[in-house]
Amino acid sequence: MERPPPTASLHRVRLAVNGEEHLLEVPGTRTLLEVLREDLGLPGTRHGCDLGECGACTVLVGGEPTLSCLTLAATLDGASISTVEGLAGGPGLNRLQRAFAEAGASQCGYCTPGLLMGLESLLARVPSPSREQVREAISGNLCRCTGYAAVVRAVEDAVAAGGGAGGEG
Ligand code: FES
Ligand code: FES
Repeated sequence: MERPPPTASLHRVRLAVNGEEHLLEVPGTRTLLEVLREDLGLPGTRHGCDLGECGACTVLVGGEPTLSCLTLAATLDGASISTVEGLAGGPGLNRLQRAFAEAGASQCGYCTPGLLMGLESLLARVPSPSREQVREAISGNLCRCTGYAAVVRAVEDAVAAGGGAGGEG
């Protein structure tokens, strides 16, 4: 007799993503990256290596930089998540995003959302970070285009412009 296909058990999770509440039912194997991109229609978070090595999928969970490709959504019930879509306030880019654009810190742009999220977290904790702190903050983000100097310069420009974490500026 044929056996029915196994049904993956679903987990109910409540997530606040960029301030918006979502109630989801997810299989235990579904990653936060998949939930954001495929279930919630937020493709700004990049799908890179899927191995925890490139940082392209970085989002903030409770304000902490987190690799969404390695994080199971089922473990996040009640979590507050920030993605690049939530950075810009109102009609424009926030200060760090603008500084990225002006400094040429974003070229192909694939790594940019992950870099921005990690740096927003840094600036929330350290409003005027040293160059070393900036380098440390981006050490897990691979970028094939910029050589990182422009990224560091963009952070310095944002800080000099009075820019800090999040919001409009
Ligand atoms: S896609 Fe997550 S670290 Fe590369
Ligand atoms: S801007 Fe192209 S990988 Fe970073």
